[in-house]
Amino acid sequence: MIETKPIDGKAFAANLRARIAEQVADLVRTRGVTPGLAVVLVGEDPASQVYVRNKAAQTLEAGMASFEHKLPADTAEADLLALVARLNADPAVNGILVQLPLPGHIDSTKVLAAIEPAKDVDGFHVVNAGRLAVGLDALVPCTPLGCVMLLKHHLGNLSGLKAVVVGRSNIVGKPAAQLLLKEDCTVTIAHSRTRDLPGECRQADILVAAVGRPEMVRGDWIKPGATVIDVGINRVPKEDGKTRLVGDVAYGEAQGIAGLITPVPGGVGPMTIACLLQNTLTATRRQNG
Ligand code: GUN
Repeated sequence: MIETKPIDGKAFAANLRARIAEQVADLVRTRGVTPGLAVVLVGEDPASQVYVRNKAAQTLEAGMASFEHKLPADTAEADLLALVARLNADPAVNGILVQLPLPGHIDSTKVLAAIEPAKDVDGFHVVNAGRLAVGLDALVPCTPLGCVMLLKHHLGNLSGLKAVVVGRSNIVGKPAAQLLLKEDCTVTIAHSRTRDLPGECRQADILVAAVGRPEMVRGDWIKPGATVIDVGINRVPKEDGKTRLVGDVAYGEAQGIAGLITPVPGGVGPMTIACLLQNTLTATRRQNG
């Protein structure tokens, strides 16, 4: 029987944020530059409000400047694009994040394309996606960046390992696959149309689940000893009428099979904001030569 160890993303993220704060203090002291992150929230989606509050608090804790722009749900697309243009031109703003999802009447693709790629700390702009794909310096989406940091920390060299990424979103699945390829993994991107999805997953030394379906990846999909990275954050109802968070992996079933696994919550989740701060620091450095 394998002893399955949880990966403590919360502790890793706290440590990363502390290291970032030291580097920010250094940048302020030696260059007189304070990294600034602007976050734009359109509408009142409760989950987004929580994210944005946490982002602002952790930005300030790291010693960075935080600029919050909260716009009503009926904001015209043209007004949002005008705000993005102002932030692009503002030298105090080194990073811009437009919280997704945007209300239905706004074309997200158009808004993301309007962000200056050098300030695109989400890494969602096609220029950054393209730069990542061809191996140039890019701003990389925060969640996959966090996943690969955890993997490198726990496994060391990933070269030659077989990685299966379940999910093909532009935000997680595709960039995660690119980053693992960069680490010399042999990468498969699997998805809802994959033939024999359990069989594909069972080949994986590294299994990344990013599908957004509660507990879809079952225990017998996991190769004994594999490292499982669960990106899912799904709210499911409990019998008492409240809700609980579960990942995309059946965590209980993975016990005794996986070697290492990220829990939900406390695994990948806390890494996302820490990586956003990392990207803001990286963007600030690049903008200041
Ligand atoms: N909504 C949920 N997660 C994210 C994220 O990482 N970035 C943005 N912009 N919106 C999100």
